[in-house]
Parts: sequence; C-alpha cells; structure tokens
Amino acid sequence: MKHIIYYFSGTGNSMRTAVRIAEKIGGAELVSVRCNPEEISAESADVIGFVCPVYEWDMPGTMKEFVGKLKVNPNAYIFMIATYVAIHGKTFETMDKLLSAKKARLNYGVALRCVASQCIAYPPFPPEKLMIPYMEKNIDRISRELSARKNRAYPAMGWLTRTLYPRLMTPYMAIEQEYDKGFYTDERCIGCETCVKVCPTQNITMQNRTPVWNHRCHGCNACVAYCPTKAVQFKKPEAYRQAKGLIPKLLRLPEKRKRYHNPFVKAADLTVDRLEIGP
Ligand SMILES: Cc1cc2nc3c(=O)[nH]c(=O)nc-3n(C[C@H](O)[C@H](O)[C@H](O)COP(=O)(O)O)c2cc1C
Repeated sequence: MKHIIYYFSGTGNSMRTAVRIAEKIGGAELVSVRCNPEEISAESADVIGFVCPVYEWDMPGTMKEFVGKLKVNPNAYIFMIATYVAIHGKTFETMDKLLSAKKARLNYGVALRCVASQCIAYPPFPPEKLMIPYMEKNIDRISRELSARKNRAYPAMGWLTRTLYPRLMTPYMAIEQEYDKGFYTDERCIGCETCVKVCPTQNITMQNRTPVWNHRCHGCNACVAYCPTKAVQFKKPEAYRQAKGLIPKLLRLPEKRKRYHNPFVKAADLTVDRLEIGP
C-alpha cells in the first residue's frame, strides 16, 4: 500500500497535522509543495492526502498550482485536511474542481481548527494552551477515520461567506502581490537565512547578508514567526494603505505582538521537502 501526503505549511500547523496523520495511518511519504509536482506524481499511490491552511477563504495559490500539475491515481482513496481558524470558505470546492479535472474525487474532507497564524493582521488566537491539545485530539480522531477509509463529504462554502467573498476578499486578493513589500529586517538580523529556508514559496533571497522578498508571497508569516532574533518586521505597503475593506486596515505588526508557530514544528523541520514517515 503506497501512502503519499502533500502539504503546504507556513507556521507548522499543517505540517504537524501531515506528520501525525502519516504516523497514525501506518506511514506515508510526505512531500512539501515546494517540490516539482512533475517529479513526484501520485499515479501509483493507493492513498493520497493533501494538507494545507485556508488562506483568504480558499486554498493557498501555491497549493492550487501544485495540485493542478500533479498526476494522481483516480482510483486512490483521496483525503484533504484544511487547517483554519474560523472560515474555510471555498477551499474544498477548489480542490474538488482540480481533482475532477483529473477524473478523481475527494473521498474525505475535513476542516481542522488550529491557532490563527496571521500575526501581521491580528494576534494568534484562540490561545495555544487551549487549542493545541484540542487540535491534537482531533488529529487522532481524523486518523482513525482515515485508517478505516471512511468517506466524508467535505464542508461546502456557506451562503454568507459566498455572498461576502466578492466584496471582502476579491479586492484584497487583487493586491496580494504587494503584501511582501511591507517586510524588512531591523538591526537584529544576523543573516542566518532561516527566513529563506522556511519560506514555502521560495520567495526570499539574500543580498549582502540581508533578506529580500521577491513578490511571490501569500503572507504565511513563516519568515516572521521563525526568525530566531525577531528581526523580521512589517510596515504596511502603500497599496494596502489605500485599499478599502477590513483586512488591509488590520495589517500591522506591533513590537509586542506574539509571533506564533506550531510548538511541535521547528524551523529545521520546514526545510525538509521530502520525508519518509514510518508506521
Ligand atoms: C495569509 C493568511 C490568511 C488566512 N486566512 C484564513 C481564512 O480565510 N480563514 C481562516 O479560518 N483562517 C485563515 N488563516 C489562518 C490559517 O489558516 C491557520 O492558522 C492555519 O492553521 C495556518 O497553517 P500553517 O501553520 O500550516 O501555516 C489565515 C492565515 C494566514 C497567514
């Protein structure tokens, strides 16, 4: 039985989920979507999993691109776990469309509540102390269902979210590529390149021992959360100053704001793109 799980993770919630699921379903090959999908196909897999966060009520763009190019076995048992905090929006519908184009279908879809990772917009919530044990318990339950090859209809986008999407999210998505113009490092930067290594979109390069963001950013906050000296800062870029809507207004990173990443996932874990997990 070949199990393969593809994941995207900024602050570790999705990676933690993918690792635990792999361990509990009897082992799996874990593949980061930083890899080239054409080199790691799922054509011979019997169980195929996708784990990623919800971003702006949808799947992260990098995950969409990856799945779009991936070859899958249409007869495999296919599952998706989307980690989120409050609104999963059209995440599963997007995956469903991508799989349908490959004549495959999602057998099992579940949204898993985690700690909010968008610390540039708002503080991490709910508190880690409450949320991490809750998340771990839910992962155990999901693993049992996956091991039993249970079918579970994915959660669809609600009426209210669907109605609000064009007004709240569409304008925000239109300026997403401007997001990383707000990042810079202060005098605490030691040039260690952790931000370069953890970035799930490979968006950061080094110039004169200083990180440079190259406008392929989803705002995942990995660079902010995993910086060992808290040197990565954020100043709202001009496009966001002028934009209408709630989210652009929220963006800022006060000095005292907590920078969240999943406590079980270290920076070094996010730098490994392929991992064989035993049972
Ligand atoms: C840019 C960004 C956008 C997000 N959008 C949503 C959202 O639309 N709905 C939601 O419930 N959570 C949202 N979140 C929270 C994340 O989905 C959640 O914290 C997730 O577990 C992070 O996964 P990761 O730690 O693997 O990166 C967002 C987080 C970020 C950084």
